[in-house]
Amino acid sequence: MSKRTVITFGTFDVLHVGHIRVLDRARALGDRLVVGVSADQLNISKKGRAPVFSQDERLEIVGSLRVVDEVFVEESLELKRDYVIHYGAAVLAMGNDWEGKFDYLSDICEVVYFPRTPSVSTTALIEHIAATAG
Ligand code: CTP
Repeated sequence: MSKRTVITFGTFDVLHVGHIRVLDRARALGDRLVVGVSADQLNISKKGRAPVFSQDERLEIVGSLRVVDEVFVEESLELKRDYVIHYGAAVLAMGNDWEGKFDYLSDICEVVYFPRTPSVSTTALIEHIAATAG
């Protein structure tokens, strides 16, 4: 029988416990987890800044996690349907900061949103480090 593939997407810059939990929860929905790690250029256009870690570093970090089976670079937010089809995903899982945003894909896969882990984000970590450095 073929494996039930789960797909998720994100920047995963300055990896933190919120990232680990969403990946663990996503993996628990199936038996293969594929992660689209957003391209540096996508982050610059989406968040107005380059990630701390380059896309190659983020791919290496996320790809080294026990629960992650495969990683790829997410080049465009508009290509989610193509990625879901390409990787044969039965489930798309995201944190609930994206609640409702991917429901349009429910014709080809199950769409699941998990509660975000409270009180942690890459942005908050960067700000905290900048404020306490020096
Ligand atoms: N995530 C989560 N809980 C958090 C932070 C992130 O569940 N506290 C999830 C997001 O919902 C998403 C994935 O982790 O599904 C990747 O999110 P990403 O944007 O890379 O992380 P953030 O910490 O939210 O980054 P930023 O502060 O730069 O927006």
